Amino acid sequence: MSRIAYVNGRYVRHAEAAVHIEDRGYQFADGVYEVCEIWQGKIVDERRHLDRLERSLRELSIRMPMSRAALSQILRQVVRKNLVRDGIVYMQVTRGVARRDHVFPPADTPPALVITAKPVRPAAGEKAAEQGVAVITVPENRWDRVDIKTVGLLPNVLAKQKAREAGAKEAWFVDADGMVTEGGSTNAWIVTRDNCLVTRPAQSGILKGITRQVVLDMIERAGLTFDERPFSVEEARQAKEAFITAASTLVMPVVRVDDTTIGNGHPGETTMELRKMFHTVSELSPA
Ligand code: PDD
Repeated sequence: MSRIAYVNGRYVRHAEAAVHIEDRGYQFADGVYEVCEIWQGKIVDERRHLDRLERSLRELSIRMPMSRAALSQILRQVVRKNLVRDGIVYMQVTRGVARRDHVFPPADTPPALVITAKPVRPAAGEKAAEQGVAVITVPENRWDRVDIKTVGLLPNVLAKQKAREAGAKEAWFVDADGMVTEGGSTNAWIVTRDNCLVTRPAQSGILKGITRQVVLDMIERAGLTFDERPFSVEEARQAKEAFITAASTLVMPVVRVDDTTIGNGHPGETTMELRKMFHTVSELSPA
């Protein structure tokens, strides 16, 4: 079966799917995206992801390419046409195609929309979670609007490549005060020695992760102690547990930060409990 992508109004074979050379996403990273998990044939937290997509677009004065209901239908079509039961669906909206000029194109330029889906083997994620992953730390070098989920991801790409070369899964950005902001494609968490879950507040320096929000909901429901505050690299090294969250990795235990082993070097109990509970709290809608 060949993969199918949605590109500006058409379902096309993935191998032949293409956008115009003057798409502003291609030339200026002038666009935004979302990634939703597909779990057992369900789209996970679609409502929140579409809310965030709409917000990102608003912040950049890009129009929604179509109604939310129509977008939601196409998401489903792409998931179904690719027979994805477990995996991810990716959507990207750019300011459209126009003769290259930094300023916005004419207001009637239609935004461009691309949607793809791909299967991911659940066993691979489970295996990684059983062992836990390593992270490295890198200086924060991104702009101050990381709350917008733009496709301008070059610092993230470079940081994650550096992690890969160091044998790690993720890179944590560290701000000028020595505080962890977030990972290249994940939010960062620790569990302190007195069992307090800590993650940076979403007001500044991070993308307000949907998975992060679901984990906060789980924590409240379970009556666990938490504190939304920045934490330092040093505090992470001393932590009992650490983990990262994203639609693509869910709750993933971290067992090493640079050269320091976290806790006993194995995935933490609280972390694994949150991972296990995740789909009982996230919103699931049939694909
Ligand atoms: N990344 N922080 C950054 C910089 C991210 O890119 C992401 C998601 C997150 C977690 O957000 P959420 O829980 O809503 O997935 C935090 C996606 C998965 C990606 O770029 O592939």
